[in-house]
Amino acid sequence: MQTTSRLDKIEVDALASQLEGKDPELVVRWALERFHPRIALATSLQAEDMVIMDMAWKINPAVRVFTLDTGRLHEETYQVMERIRDRYGVAVESYFPDREAVETLEREKGFYSFRRSVEERKFCCGVRKVEPLGRALGTLEAWITGLRREQAVTRVGVPKVERDESHGGILKLNPLADWTLAQVWDYIRAHSVPYNALHDLGYPSIGCAPCTRAIKPGEDIRAGRWWWEQPEHKECGLHISPAEPGRLAP
Ligand code: ADX
Ligand code: SF4
Repeated sequence: MQTTSRLDKIEVDALASQLEGKDPELVVRWALERFHPRIALATSLQAEDMVIMDMAWKINPAVRVFTLDTGRLHEETYQVMERIRDRYGVAVESYFPDREAVETLEREKGFYSFRRSVEERKFCCGVRKVEPLGRALGTLEAWITGLRREQAVTRVGVPKVERDESHGGILKLNPLADWTLAQVWDYIRAHSVPYNALHDLGYPSIGCAPCTRAIKPGEDIRAGRWWWEQPEHKECGLHISPAEPGRLAP
């Protein structure tokens, strides 16, 4: 296994242009060969993440996978984690929020404070997702996400490879950046990949239970996420660049 130190911005830019036109499998293979076991797939157990799970497991069955268990996930989401265990023999590494921070949040603000304002919602995402993500990434040199450009106005500039400045300059890979939703589902069907049962109930995008609902025909695929907010606010902080708060990196 090749050992590696952090790549600087020039090296990452060169890598990004080299891998930009490549198939997701190739990007995942390159990343696992270079970084495993200091690389992991971040999964919210939605369709995109299951595609990458399947690809990555076929390349290296010891692939590491982690989820941020916010404490507010759907039952169906936990069931997919069990299906991953059965099908691939992979135990999803779960990261919980800081216990005291959640206790304080719930005592002081109640159980639905995120409905009051964008600030309150981002505070909850900060406690339940962003802080645990920092811990999960603290030991890694690279991570893989299921981000796609087509998903949102905040994501049109997502590269396949980038330097994650919010997390100490580790490498962030978004192998499905240029895939459409149809390509995601074609892969799932072609390879009989297990998927979250909520997708069959009108949920194209899945997050925490109280902040996600089914969409109506013709609605945007993220219309059911934080449905009371405007599209430009719909990022929870996992994918925000510190250089441009409120906008997605780069
Ligand atoms: S979010 O920022 O709005 O919640 P989204 O649900 O679109 O993000 O997911 C984009 C990618 O972020 C996923 O494909 C996954 O890689 C990562 N991600 C989102 N939520 C989680 C989670 N709870 N645990 C681990 N990774 C996650
Ligand atoms: Fe809190 Fe909702 Fe964010 Fe989950 S999605 S962390 S419940 S605000």
